[in-house]
Amino acid sequence: MTHIIDGKYFADTIKEEVQRETEHLKQQYGIVPGLAVILVGENPASQAYVRTKEKVATELGFYSFTNHQPATLQEHELLSLINMYNNDPRIHGILVQLPLPKHISEHRIIEAINPDKDVDGFHPITLGKLLIGEDTFKPCTPAGIQELLLRSGYDPAGKHVVIVGRSTIVGKPLAAMLVQKQAGANAIVTIVHTAAPDISYYTKQADILVAAMGKPESIHGSMIKDGAIVIDVGINRVEDPSAPKGYRIVGDVHFSSAAERAQAITPVPGGVGVMTVAMLMKNTLKAAYRYALSLKQA
Ligand code: GUN
Repeated sequence: MTHIIDGKYFADTIKEEVQRETEHLKQQYGIVPGLAVILVGENPASQAYVRTKEKVATELGFYSFTNHQPATLQEHELLSLINMYNNDPRIHGILVQLPLPKHISEHRIIEAINPDKDVDGFHPITLGKLLIGEDTFKPCTPAGIQELLLRSGYDPAGKHVVIVGRSTIVGKPLAAMLVQKQAGANAIVTIVHTAAPDISYYTKQADILVAAMGKPESIHGSMIKDGAIVIDVGINRVEDPSAPKGYRIVGDVHFSSAAERAQAITPVPGGVGVMTVAMLMKNTLKAAYRYALSLKQA
């Protein structure tokens, strides 16, 4: 029987842990974790993600604030907003939902966030620390994948992890994390991407296969080694007139054929996606703890 890895169960467990520690932080230090989410424009998927983030943050007892701006917002205006939250002591985490409208430079925006409040883990300082194995905010999706592997009993140590996709949000930071000589990592890591003449040459060698290239249902069972662990990071909307909303959500893996070959596989939805949100909460709590400790030391 293929093990369907229940992301919702692990995400709920992590959220309960965060909720308990949030209560402790309030009682011990009088501090409530604060998360500011900035959304620019009307991208429906981004709006849905941001709603979920605000809902979960509120459920866990955070001070949560969503700032929704029109797509016409200018870069300097967004920089001013970030500056405002950088200087707001109630806010410990700042998240700018991506993608941003074309006229705004994502690099300049991310670099304007105070690294102490970089709960998304996208700032170059955060990513640099990640690469050299220093304690920092791990980007939420790679962190969710690592937690999911460990909590479901698939330690990547000594295993060949093949990551399909080289994004700055998932592929590259996940490789940096899993290759560290540290507990919960110590894997042999390959990143495969569009320049490979035959992706399946690489995917078939994976003990742990991570599909994170954003192409709906494109990893088939025939591309997977028998007994592999398959982690599907994709969240793709595909048209489906028979579905109530006119679309359904599928991963980057063709689930049914992959499940026949895999030892374990994450579903979409209910796999990595729910873990991402839980890890954002964990990072925000970490930022708030660090702030509390810095006050104590001052
Ligand atoms: N867009 C897609 N994924 C993410 C994410 O994890 N964080 C942000 N800020 N934007 C995203």
